Amino acid sequence: MKIEISEAVKYIGVDDKTIDLFESQYVVPEGVSYNSYLIMDEKVALMDTVDARGMKEWESNLMEALGGRKVDYLVIQHLEPDHAGSIGRLVELFPDVTLVGNAKTFAMLPQFFDIDLEGRTMTVAEGDTLSLGSHMLNFVMAPMVHWPEVMVTYESSEKILFSADGFGKFGALDYDDPEGWACEARRYYFNIVGKYGAPVQALLKKAAGLDIQMICPLHGPILKENLGYYIGMYDTWSSYKPENKGVLVAFASIHGNTGKAAERFAEMLRQRGVEKVVVSDLAREDMAEVIEDAFRYDRMVLAGASYDGGVFPCMQDFLHHLQSKAYQNRTVGIIENGSWGPTAGRTMKGILETMKNVTIVDPMVTIKSTMKDTDLPAMEALADAIAGA
Ligand code: FEO
Repeated sequence: MKIEISEAVKYIGVDDKTIDLFESQYVVPEGVSYNSYLIMDEKVALMDTVDARGMKEWESNLMEALGGRKVDYLVIQHLEPDHAGSIGRLVELFPDVTLVGNAKTFAMLPQFFDIDLEGRTMTVAEGDTLSLGSHMLNFVMAPMVHWPEVMVTYESSEKILFSADGFGKFGALDYDDPEGWACEARRYYFNIVGKYGAPVQALLKKAAGLDIQMICPLHGPILKENLGYYIGMYDTWSSYKPENKGVLVAFASIHGNTGKAAERFAEMLRQRGVEKVVVSDLAREDMAEVIEDAFRYDRMVLAGASYDGGVFPCMQDFLHHLQSKAYQNRTVGIIENGSWGPTAGRTMKGILETMKNVTIVDPMVTIKSTMKDTDLPAMEALADAIAGA
């Protein structure tokens, strides 16, 4: 796809619209892009390669953009194979290329790729620069956003931040997302980078000292306008602050009865004027989408069926995901269902109690098999507590 960046900076990335699961875990119904950029100056620098799945098309884009010139430097900002997967091919095409990375990049690269690094590397550290002629690359280390070797690059003549996975989103570039940037960028952020809020905050602090006019991420669209909006979103997300007031009601139901209780509870919240109420069936909906909503809103209610002395597995899985993504600073209510000794409530509560600054509100509601009128007072009391939180 032809994407204009500037006279000297060319987009040579590719769309992948046939991958079944990104990272073998995330559905990408509108595909994903592997972005790669070429900076043409006295010296030519390539900013990352692409996943091996897109190598052929990328090579063709690269050769066309080069117009007979050769690549002098390959800047490796991130080693994950969705970006580094074509480094071997680049070295075959341009054996004299210098690979630019940091100490961690070159320590890890041989674990993934069989590439002879002898005499081919330039190791950079925080604050180092590389002149291409009129363009100047400034290297900024971004460890654990979301891998240890990650770095970003600020090109100071055109004021472009090459941001690695930062500010990336799911969706091929030729797909005009009617929901805008935030929906799929948020799902990408919380599921892939969510655990690493503190390193993202550290990077944002460094970025605040730069005059950025354009952001070129490794996935998703190039951001040219209103950059404060995107940076503000990343600040909210990485500081674990809720983005919107609202309640996610997530249920795990075996035969539908816990689901009915969850729907009824959501209605009670709406009647109380709660700004936004989202109901999600954990057995059927995209787990990554539900994780995204859990972080988006300030409150969450879990409705789970008891199962094998614990909670129905999709709820256990959901809570495991939230735990590993450092879910925190939220208010949570619990509805459990059990036909004989209910165990779901204490199981969910036990996991929530391991999380930082999660307030569990009373009462915990217990339903026996199906919701009855006698359950309504407890549900109304929980709805009052959640609506008022
Ligand atoms: Fe897009 Fe972390 O790789």
